[in-house]
Amino acid sequence: MTAMIEIEKLTVVFGSGSLRVAAVDDFTMRVDRGESFGLVGESGSGKSTVLRAVCGLAPAAGGSIAVDGKPVPTPRDRAFYSTVQMVFQDPYGSLHPRQTVDQILSEPLSIHRLGDQDRRIAAALGDVGLGPSFRFRYPHQLSGGQRQRVAIARALILEPKVLLLDEPTSALDASVQAEILNLLERLRAEHGLTYVLVSHDLAVVTHLCGRLIVMRNGKAVEETDAPRLRAGETASPYTRELMQATRGFTRASQTTE
Ligand SMILES: Nc1ncnc2c1ncn2[C@@H]1O[C@H](COP(=O)(O)OP(=O)(O)O)[C@@H](O)[C@H]1O
Ligand SMILES: [Mg+2]
Repeated sequence: MTAMIEIEKLTVVFGSGSLRVAAVDDFTMRVDRGESFGLVGESGSGKSTVLRAVCGLAPAAGGSIAVDGKPVPTPRDRAFYSTVQMVFQDPYGSLHPRQTVDQILSEPLSIHRLGDQDRRIAAALGDVGLGPSFRFRYPHQLSGGQRQRVAIARALILEPKVLLLDEPTSALDASVQAEILNLLERLRAEHGLTYVLVSHDLAVVTHLCGRLIVMRNGKAVEETDAPRLRAGETASPYTRELMQATRGFTRASQTTE
């Protein structure tokens, strides 16, 4: 079976001369269908750039990216975005403040010329646990968690196969963070989705993901999985440092068992 996402030797470079940064450097990742795959590493390690490169939002200087068995087209076309959707960290920044939830959710449907908008919007809101009363609210009338639910509904409304989740809970309080992670887990099971979850927080990644890659300075340091990490098995000293730096990693991971 072909992988859902296959990244081979991806390199992304920003700037030139003395300002040159290889944000992603010879990076390889294979994500199976229906898998929830994690990318973890400290700030600046290149996690977001990997997701952005998949979506065509960061320029690949080398390597290849295939989704659903096909090389991704440049520029990414409508078919790509009906397969792959991204959810960002900041639900304040990613939702237009002057649009109602209804407008936010209608926009992708109009762009993709999908009919049956009322039914699709109601279904997407229901999926993320928001009732019909939320449809005509503005982002400022929602809590942080509700906003992130709207952002997830917007990503799901085109019925994609893949969600790229960039620090989807990092802006939220701990209790809301757990709610959103549980919601994401349920949605993945219900819709047969494939996830790539990016986080600086090892506890978040191991909550949702089986396999994961630890990144540092644009490179994959170690590919491992949640059970191995919980058992304290790490191949690289850097991963161990990251575990020690993640407050409550051991406790948080035990409570998700
Ligand atoms: N648009 C950009 N222009 C210049 N440098 C960038 C840009 N985006 C990211 N970088 C740099 O690339 C590196 C990786 O960034 P990023 O992928 O955002 O890391 P992470 O998501 O792991 O925090 C950092 O050094 C960052 O400063
Ligand atoms: Mg980032």
